[in-house]
Amino acid sequence: MTRSENRSDTPRYRQLAALYEQAIASGSLQPGMRMPSVRELCQRHQVSLTTALQGLRHLEAQGCVEARERVGYFVRAPGSASLPRAREPEVCEPLPSDPRVFAGINERISLFLEKARLAGPLPLDLGSAMPAPSLFDATALNRLAHSLLREQPDILVYGPSAPTTHPEFQQAMARHALGFGLSLAPSDISATLGNSEGVNLALDAVAEPGDVIAVESPTFFGILQAIEVRGLRALEIPSSPHTGMSLEALELAARNEPRLKGVVVVPHLQMPQGSVMPDAHKQRLVALCVEYGLALVEDDIYREFVETSHPLRPVKAWDRPGDAGQVIYCASLSKSFAPGLRQGWMSAGRWQARVQMLKFASTRNMQTWSQLLAARSVNSPGYERHLRRLRAQLRLQREQSARAVARYFPQGTRLSLPPGGLSLWLELPVGISSTRLYDQALQCGIRIAPGPMFSNTGRYEHFLRLSCGMPFTPQVEEGYRTLGELMAQQLGQGRGVTCLSRLLYPGLPEAV
Ligand SMILES: Cc1ncc(COP(=O)(O)O)c(C=O)c1O
Repeated sequence: MTRSENRSDTPRYRQLAALYEQAIASGSLQPGMRMPSVRELCQRHQVSLTTALQGLRHLEAQGCVEARERVGYFVRAPGSASLPRAREPEVCEPLPSDPRVFAGINERISLFLEKARLAGPLPLDLGSAMPAPSLFDATALNRLAHSLLREQPDILVYGPSAPTTHPEFQQAMARHALGFGLSLAPSDISATLGNSEGVNLALDAVAEPGDVIAVESPTFFGILQAIEVRGLRALEIPSSPHTGMSLEALELAARNEPRLKGVVVVPHLQMPQGSVMPDAHKQRLVALCVEYGLALVEDDIYREFVETSHPLRPVKAWDRPGDAGQVIYCASLSKSFAPGLRQGWMSAGRWQARVQMLKFASTRNMQTWSQLLAARSVNSPGYERHLRRLRAQLRLQREQSARAVARYFPQGTRLSLPPGGLSLWLELPVGISSTRLYDQALQCGIRIAPGPMFSNTGRYEHFLRLSCGMPFTPQVEEGYRTLGELMAQQLGQGRGVTCLSRLLYPGLPEAV
């Protein structure tokens, strides 16, 4: 095995298998292609016959390759192919909140968080949609931070006079946006604290308490929380796991709901379903919002994670420019570049002046430091290289996670592998409660994100979001096995479950 392949204390057969899993996930080895023979593996990687054979057997057990008698091993189609696809929504009209479950999204989220806090430090977090810290280029960022401090020792004083965003950041983001088909004047760009502040400001600018905001169903719970704390009402619109929000249902809502003031969409890798809105839908969505006078808030935090041959154009690319703009564009570097910087940005079309005023009133000056770090990074060749690496690694992790779902979860589990991103959205067989699974998994040292976090309609009790942000280690695989056993137990098919955390923390209960 060459020096670059031999980087950890992972057994050598696992390292060998990981190398080929990566090649399969990146497409350099296609389904149906013949794998190198045992002898070829020995020569190529300088490993023993046993290691080569173990590596191939491990790949077979993972569902990556299949053995054909007397011929050798061949690459299999992606593991999720054996799982039924996610279903389209059954209804085409706005979904009512279910009063039995509508305790308020903030109360529900707080309850889930509190339970996790009480459970103490957990060995396995499959609940947070975040790339593992090892996927970020900390060395490059440290180097840049040092050179910035040398060049501008006074960087930590207040930046340009409030409320303006740093001009270097505005210029950099305008150039960055041009790269994906969005032409924005630098002066129309505002820095924000993550994507979250962008969405918050947008809601403050376009609606007042009692107004209604349409959202995808299911949707990112942060959007539901932001709507609720402002005294607004979320109207959930059925959304396809493949193409996003149903525009027919949105139009119905626009005709019948007089207090509907805006729409929030996540067009690229919608959270949690992972859909990507086709261009024709984006165009129709903008036209619809113009026709009914609705503000369109675009949360574009995952665009760079989509696997495509060309950059995808955001919905705002179909907006009318300048003052007439109906689309409030929000994005952030939180997932793609450096989560700790919390560097987001927005361009609010006709609401730009109001957004700037609200921003100044709420947080006053922006942090110059992170704006400059972001400005000097996003247009560099290193940023593109980092994104390519990030996408390839996440693709591998999604594939591995999907294979584990196919292997360990009960029959009837549905999953459509999204074309990018950090998580999987699963429909579990009817009869499984993901709220109960959340409690049981916590006892086993595993955190998950249950379906009810993503809606107020009570429709997603048997759904689950699992993060694929971290490398797929044997510990992660063990977590999937444990979740599968817990579900089998809920369906009355299981035996006792040996908890992952018990293997690591023997003081915990033996089984649940
Ligand atoms: C769709 C979506 N929007 C916004 C955010 C939060 O973004 P930020 O951390 O930049 O505020 C998340 C985080 O999970 C998300 O999934």
